[in-house]
Amino acid sequence: MTEYNLCILPGDGIGPEVIQEAVRVLNTLAETSNEIIEFNYTYGDIGYGAYQKLGNPLPEETLEKVKTADATLFGAVTTPPNIPNYSSPILGLRKHFDLFVNLRPCVSMPHPTSKDNINITIFRENTEGLYSKVEHVDKDENGVVTRAVTERIITRKSSERIIRHAFEYAKTNNISKVTVVHKANVLRETCGLFRVVAQEVAQNYQDIEMQEMLVDNCAMQLIRAPEQFQVIVTTNLFGDILSDEASMLVGGLGMACSGNIGTDTAIFEPVHGSAPDITGQEKANPIATLLSAKLMLDHLGLTNEANKLENAIKKAMQNNMLTPDLGGNLTTAQVTDNIIRILKES
Ligand code: IPM
Ligand code: MG
Repeated sequence: MTEYNLCILPGDGIGPEVIQEAVRVLNTLAETSNEIIEFNYTYGDIGYGAYQKLGNPLPEETLEKVKTADATLFGAVTTPPNIPNYSSPILGLRKHFDLFVNLRPCVSMPHPTSKDNINITIFRENTEGLYSKVEHVDKDENGVVTRAVTERIITRKSSERIIRHAFEYAKTNNISKVTVVHKANVLRETCGLFRVVAQEVAQNYQDIEMQEMLVDNCAMQLIRAPEQFQVIVTTNLFGDILSDEASMLVGGLGMACSGNIGTDTAIFEPVHGSAPDITGQEKANPIATLLSAKLMLDHLGLTNEANKLENAIKKAMQNNMLTPDLGGNLTTAQVTDNIIRILKES
């Protein structure tokens, strides 16, 4: 028997609603697997709820649970706008565990809002850039802020490891082109370094073409001709923006999944937020979280289970078993029930 210790961080809003569905699906996969698999779950507090309960959105015990797990599945968190020094715990987790890869696949799905022939994998640097948190302000004699600065920190080390990761992914998956997205014509030092490192890394992959693209052009090309992209690698904020944009090519945030991957651990999460406007209404689309669980299964080496889950999700979508955001009329649990039924039949 192979046991997997999973840390589950439901979070706020619809986070617990979609996470609960993922756990049901994981249990079904374990039950129906040809191998003997057991998933053990350890739940942790995170987000605004944790802050209200324990005074900290990212408690020490939660860090310990993530650290000792084989992988973590994260729901969503609410970030209250008016609490000074409050920082989103997902950013804290990425930094604390040095989860330098933010993996965001955008793949065609069987739904009218998804374009065909899209298979783009975005690798977003996840630890630095404009997310450095190195910020300061100047104030005038009345204490009014007159100037604000955020340092955009790009290091050779972090650029190299994310770019290498993207090229390795391309090599493993027989992909012939990696698009490196930057703005080195203006951000000469920061993007300039990212670009130079990319050129160096690309030297080790003679069979893979390295294409360079300025970020504004990339944003436009993603809408004009998205089929041209296979692997995109870019810095933190550019990746944040481009991945939300790219998700709209294949059905939107209700289906966008992601992985935060480091050397020691990995955290998988739907790209969407905690959606307080629909919390408690049984409307949340569980698919983004189920696809994130699929990425987690791949990461754990459970490729058969990952493929089974992806196929079941697609089949349920083809049969129009959907939540209202995708034009269906099923509840969160009903969508999952159908996916579970398909898994049991397959
Ligand atoms: C994402 C989110 C986060 C980010 C927010 C919640 C801090 O937008 O995961 O893309 O900016 O990285
Ligand atoms: Mg984002």
